[in-house]
Amino acid sequence: MQRGFFITLEGLDGSGKTTQINRLAAWLKKRASEEPRAPSFRRPGVPTDRFSSVGWRSGERVGSHEFVLTRQPGGTPTGDRIRALLLDSRSTALSPMAEMALMFADRAQAIAQVIQPALDAGKIVLCDRFTDSTEAYQGGGRQLGSQAVLELHRLLCSNLQPDLTLLLLPSLEASLARARRRNQRENAKSGQDENRFELEQDAFYRRVWEKYQEIAAREPARVVLIQGDLSIDEVHEQIVEAVSERLLTASPMA
Ligand code: TYD
Repeated sequence: MQRGFFITLEGLDGSGKTTQINRLAAWLKKRASEEPRAPSFRRPGVPTDRFSSVGWRSGERVGSHEFVLTRQPGGTPTGDRIRALLLDSRSTALSPMAEMALMFADRAQAIAQVIQPALDAGKIVLCDRFTDSTEAYQGGGRQLGSQAVLELHRLLCSNLQPDLTLLLLPSLEASLARARRRNQRENAKSGQDENRFELEQDAFYRRVWEKYQEIAAREPARVVLIQGDLSIDEVHEQIVEAVSERLLTASPMA
């Protein structure tokens, strides 16, 4: 069985990542419904392989094709419990090391239960955040450094690498403003506090933002950096272009 494709979306809170992952999933679904046969995919430097085409949401099928949409933290029953623990503002006493360990516990479970089986079955996996988030937030934001994160990734995640990472990085100022607006709306609805991460100071987010830039500069073959204060449509166009160019061949294999 050919390995599928692993695409991750990354960015600061408030970068519009969730909107974009939903639009990308819808685009993949539309493409699949228009394709009479499965399209072929190509990784840079790797011979062209044939993969299954795409569907919508985990397990849902479009014709005979399928893809999996997941997120971190969360995405498995165990991961959802870890997510609740991590994002709960009552966990403010959590140490940075404990936080990093929980992120990796969540990820190791998601790889074992969802991501690797889907890739082994030749599916496309679309994941909202992955280890780049840990490097940016815990490595950069919490100042634990990249090395610890990358070593844990090798040890606990078999060094599984995305084939393509779409990194949405609007200006720091715009990201912070959007995150605040979103929090205010959500807090008004739920009557709850802002979540723990979103209570962090601007300096924290600046470190996260800078670490993301560093990752993009270090791994240009994997990471497509979509930066600047673009409209939702403009970002979507760039994402579609990156996915089309880098992963989908122009025409289906004969
Ligand atoms: P979420 O509500 O999913 O935010 P978003 O919609 O912006 O993805 O919350 C996830 C939070 O967890 C977000 O602030 C980033 C943080 N996070 C880490 O700090 N480290 C990690 O490894 C991951 C996956 C997320």
